[in-house]
Amino acid sequence: MTATLPAGPIVRALRAAHLHDAPRDGLLRLACEAIRALGPPYTSVYAYMLHGDELVLEAFSGRDTEHRRIPVGSGVCGTAVATGEDQNVADVGAAGNYLACNLETRSELVVLIRRGATILGQLDIDSDVPAGFGAEHHRAVKAVADALAVLL
Ligand code: SME
Repeated sequence: MTATLPAGPIVRALRAAHLHDAPRDGLLRLACEAIRALGPPYTSVYAYMLHGDELVLEAFSGRDTEHRRIPVGSGVCGTAVATGEDQNVADVGAAGNYLACNLETRSELVVLIRRGATILGQLDIDSDVPAGFGAEHHRAVKAVADALAVLL
């Protein structure tokens, strides 16, 4: 069984950074780095923020990606915004809408950053582990996304 990884310390670190006037990109980078530091299944973490009808990569930790801008409706990331639903893709090879960044990624979790009814962006997490994300990972990442929604 995969151990449950608490988001509390990450949320507290984000609040502390915000109290010390960390800029938006600093908070996003901190979130990406802290989630990735938890280790597998979190291989690479990307913060895509919504600018009009495009998601723009504002921070990441892990493998670089050529997908710096993703139109709403495109890929797993754009689908999350278009549908208003978080995406947990157990097998990216079987997902018709997956935009590949590399050959190692096996599964992907996208959690929206929402403030009320407004979607601000998302945390997009790639895993080299097949079906890497369960409900407990989703809950932990959502706690970080909810903290960012307040602090950004
Ligand atoms: N796989 C994503 C594209 C972003 S990269 O994973 C960083 C997608 O299908 O939208």
